[in-house]
Amino acid sequence: MENIDWGKLPFGYFKTDYNVRCYNKNGKWGEIEISSSEYINLHIAATCLHYGQECFEGMKVFRGKDGKIRVFRWEENAKRMQRSCEGIMMAQPPLELFREMMIKVIKLNEKYIPPPGLGAALYLRPLTIGSGPQVGVKPAEEYMFMIFAGPVGPYFKEGFNPVNVQIVRDYDRTAPHGTGHIKVGGNYAASLKPADRAKKEGFSTVLFVDSKENKYLDEAGPANFFGIKGNIYVTPDSKTILPSITNMSLRELAKDMGMKVEMRAVPVEELEEFDEAGACGTAAVISPIKRIVDRETGKEYTYCCNGEAGPISTRLFKTLKGIQEGEIEDKFGWNMIIE
Ligand SMILES: Cc1ncc(COP(=O)(O)O)c(C=O)c1O
Repeated sequence: MENIDWGKLPFGYFKTDYNVRCYNKNGKWGEIEISSSEYINLHIAATCLHYGQECFEGMKVFRGKDGKIRVFRWEENAKRMQRSCEGIMMAQPPLELFREMMIKVIKLNEKYIPPPGLGAALYLRPLTIGSGPQVGVKPAEEYMFMIFAGPVGPYFKEGFNPVNVQIVRDYDRTAPHGTGHIKVGGNYAASLKPADRAKKEGFSTVLFVDSKENKYLDEAGPANFFGIKGNIYVTPDSKTILPSITNMSLRELAKDMGMKVEMRAVPVEELEEFDEAGACGTAAVISPIKRIVDRETGKEYTYCCNGEAGPISTRLFKTLKGIQEGEIEDKFGWNMIIE
């Protein structure tokens, strides 16, 4: 452990000691298994391999200066995983099973929870897959739910520094009545090419527009978009956007700060009216945006004119991080403390 440079951790895979697994066979969840293997033994005809029966979650565990271990809003992740499973006809891990496995995997890997103050955390990756075989296109009859864990640093190498984002219109992350609202692997497969191209063209991430009319803002890569207009927090509402738990929390914080919150269709041109813009999600909390370039039209929108995040994004970021790390009173009851 002495060898981990906590302050320089990337946002990536890190081998830890244990993961936990549970199988659903004949409609019933079995016993929780603890594994120290990084591999799963999978049937060659498992539906996750052929028909994309796969969904995942991403959540963070923090060690506070008070030494306490906190998990942020785990129930929201557990409920979202249930909705994802429901959406692609997989067995849904019950909340109690999710909770028990989550506590187990945290305790088993406790030494990998980074010390406070470095922007690092223990990342949990819950995963449900269709593990049973099918050759015809049908849901599996067996599922595996697992959680693995690993310490991570910030998602964007820029940290809380403003990033450049590219609007893409020639790729869709999801179809209008597709699976954008749930966290299934196929959505991410569809986002890889535009994201890779955007990186090569000098951007941190992409900003998708709605796939039906190509008019409204959709997801900001693997994060939700928000804009600040005066005293209003604006975020797109769409059936193709994943309901972000970070965004949900920021909306509550914004209201608590006396701001108005608008969740509605946001036309691309409205980008011109925002004082601040950002992407939000578990990985980075908030990535302030300094420049948005529309790849098709070449039109540019700029924010953070002094090179720094705007005052409202900064306040929201600090408040949410402060709550997660136990520095600010958790008056909403968002944290669970792992004893
Ligand atoms: C497509 C997408 N949108 C938004 C988010 C942000 O959601 P959350 O704040 O729950 O991490 C994520 C990450 O989970 C994501 O993958």
